[in-house]
Amino acid sequence: MHLRLLLLLILGVPPKAVLFFSPPWSPTFEGESVTLTCRESHFPAREDVYWYYNGNSFKKSKVIQIRKSGHYQCKTQRSSLSDAVHVEFSSDWLILQAPHPVFEGDNVVLKCQGKDENKISERNYYKNGERLDISKNSNSILLTSVSRDDSVYQCSASGKYLLRQWKKTSKHLRIQVQELFPSPVLTASPSLPTEGSPMTLTCETQLSPQRPDVQLQFRFFRDVHVLGSGWSSSAELQIPATWSEDSGSYWCEAETMTPSIVKRSQRFQIHVQRVPVSDVNLEIQPPGGQLVEGENLILICSVAKGTGTITFSWHREGIVRSVGRKTQSSLMAELQIPNMKEHNAGRYYCAADNTYGPIISKRITVTVRIPVSRPVLTLRMPRTQAVVGDMVEFHCEALRGSPPILYEFYHENVNLERSSAPSGGGVSFKLSLTTEYSGNYSCEADNGLGVQHSHRVSLKVTVPVSRPVLTLRAPGVQAVVGNMVELHCEALRGSPPILYWFYHENVTLGNSSAPSGGGAYFNLSLTAKHSGNFSCEAANGLGAQRSEAVTLKVTGTSRIRTGLTTAGVIGGLLSILGLATTAALLGHLRTQRRLGGTFYPLSLSSLSHYSPKECPEPSSSRPFSTDPPNPLYSEPPTQMALQPVYSNVNPGDSNLVYSQIWSFQHTKENSANSPRVHREDEEPAVFYSELKKVQPGDSAGQTSSSGSVHEDDTENYENVPCASSVSAH
Ligand SMILES: *[C@@H]1O[C@H](CO)[C@@H](O)[C@H](O)[C@H]1NC(C)=O
Ligand SMILES: *[C@@H]1O[C@H](CO)[C@@H](O)[C@H](O)[C@H]1NC(C)=O
Ligand SMILES: *[C@@H]1O[C@H](CO)[C@@H](O)[C@H](O)[C@H]1NC(C)=O
Ligand SMILES: *[C@@H]1O[C@H](CO)[C@@H](O)[C@H](O)[C@H]1NC(C)=O
Ligand SMILES: *[C@@H]1O[C@H](CO)[C@@H](O)[C@H](O)[C@H]1NC(C)=O
Repeated sequence: MHLRLLLLLILGVPPKAVLFFSPPWSPTFEGESVTLTCRESHFPAREDVYWYYNGNSFKKSKVIQIRKSGHYQCKTQRSSLSDAVHVEFSSDWLILQAPHPVFEGDNVVLKCQGKDENKISERNYYKNGERLDISKNSNSILLTSVSRDDSVYQCSASGKYLLRQWKKTSKHLRIQVQELFPSPVLTASPSLPTEGSPMTLTCETQLSPQRPDVQLQFRFFRDVHVLGSGWSSSAELQIPATWSEDSGSYWCEAETMTPSIVKRSQRFQIHVQRVPVSDVNLEIQPPGGQLVEGENLILICSVAKGTGTITFSWHREGIVRSVGRKTQSSLMAELQIPNMKEHNAGRYYCAADNTYGPIISKRITVTVRIPVSRPVLTLRMPRTQAVVGDMVEFHCEALRGSPPILYEFYHENVNLERSSAPSGGGVSFKLSLTTEYSGNYSCEADNGLGVQHSHRVSLKVTVPVSRPVLTLRAPGVQAVVGNMVELHCEALRGSPPILYWFYHENVTLGNSSAPSGGGAYFNLSLTAKHSGNFSCEAANGLGAQRSEAVTLKVTGTSRIRTGLTTAGVIGGLLSILGLATTAALLGHLRTQRRLGGTFYPLSLSSLSHYSPKECPEPSSSRPFSTDPPNPLYSEPPTQMALQPVYSNVNPGDSNLVYSQIWSFQHTKENSANSPRVHREDEEPAVFYSELKKVQPGDSAGQTSSSGSVHEDDTENYENVPCASSVSAH
């Protein structure tokens, strides 16, 4: 209160003067006088006092005496005009007096005065017309704790005069109850607080300067809630930090302790302002936003500023619904998205909002990489079997996996090829097959998230059979009815198993298989019908190959009657036709002898029968191999069981092939035409015939050991199959 006084002085508004009168009772009887004094605050005036009567200035004096009813005011140079005090001078016989000054809450004595007190035998008091139940004839009453209401008081007096009862009634009295302190005014500083900042509430009122010592206490409310610890002697309440929840309707109460006068302020609306969110930032884990499928993504949204509860929300671009939302009173919130899948990839951002509208962070790209799945290796071949020379496409593909994917192909754990698929999918490469490419294949896919191996794929490269070579072996020089002839058929190339068929003319003699490759044998017991062309066929599922035909002339034995006739006829035919070429053949034979070939002398008579042109059944060209089917060539014929062998021999010269025929020379009957039945008498002999490559216009029998034309071997050789018939003579 002193503070406020000081403030008023500083502001140049002087405090009100206070007017007192003595004796301090009103009304009073006419004719009496009342002394008025003026005080500046609670000090007596030390200078001239200006007096006002019913609003008009009328006198300048320190103290005045008055005898007239009316409203009086005073002021000094250092104080402003006092409140008006009404002093009443009454002409009534009975008056009800109230003291001055009276403040609310005071206990007040009212005096009922008659002009002649001795005549009064009984007094009654009334409040608002109601008689107050107090002891009669008391000349005063005590009112406790008066308030500023419109109550009117009255008293009456009665007595006996000359045996006559009389009664007098006072005028109505309205007590001038002054305000001890006005209703408080609540102020807040600052009046627009922001969240997190302190706020001071002040409950402002002013005790009357005439009652400076009254103790006041204060209480603050928000809506219906008492703030702080209730009543306090301080008119201030400090709230260290305000939040939006503190917004509301504030008011305060001021109270005197004794007697209790409570006054409350008007309500004061306080809205605590939020600090808007700013600098919204999104961080993610793992940093960089590179995830492997199945990992967890952690999104951390933070704000630099912002008060109160903040609603954080997380979003992915292009998706209407947020991926998460949290409301909490903190500057940071975290969201975890577990088990990230490929479709969870995208650009993420977060937003923060504390009622001023959402603020959005920058966007962060999150990628989800998928480890490669086990790749599948496929071999694309032109047919079901892998055949030498085929183009095979190797294709390796992992159906899942983020690109780029590096593929490696392995053949028997040796790296064969490496290829990258920059945008996913599989890769392929092609190979032309050779036999070395048989084996197990696998491939590997790797995109940096773990290598995956395919299953093993086994490839067997098969080789088609080459044209087989047929060789006939008979036990004797001649193919005689009843003998066993061994047919040997062999394809030099070709993956096993190889199945061989043996043919006489077009008739199948039988079949034989070579499960692990090589050739096959077939034994045939000769009959007369077996003259003619033999051939064989080899097959391993990749197309059959037929050998050249080998012509065999079967002759009858001495015991077989048909043999003689046939031999004689053929022999006669040969001697007529054959002589022309004998000289040429013989000449060449000598050449071969000089070259050191292993052979035996031939009798001229034997040779004279020979002529390739006159062969009854000249063989067709045959692709015989370089290897003789038997090691006959290297062994001396004397140590062997000699037998005619029909075979092509190539001694190394690419242009030459020799038909090698082991036989026995007749020792006694050179010119005899008897059939060859005495083998023990025969001498071994070898016929060599050089056969030149067949060329158009080229006459047969020309020797050409140095033939320069290099052509297909199959075209170059000719069998000399007529040895048996020649030797028969
Ligand atoms: C290929 O793999 C199989 C088993 O998958 C195995 O038995 C075989 O020996 C392998 N072949 C080669 C040539 O390694
Ligand atoms: C034998 O085969 C040849 C050629 O392959 C053919 O012309 C001929 O008609 C065949 N003969 C028989 C009896 O099948
Ligand atoms: C092979 O010959 C046997 C008889 O010796 C016959 O039963 C079989 O059918 C023949 N196989 C083929 C494939 O011709
Ligand atoms: C063919 O005959 C010879 C001798 O008679 C024999 O050693 C061989 O085993 C026979 N071969 C077959 C395939 O019957
Ligand atoms: C045997 O083959 C040759 C040549 O291929 C042919 O000229 C001859 O007529 C054939 N012989 C028989 C009996 O089919």
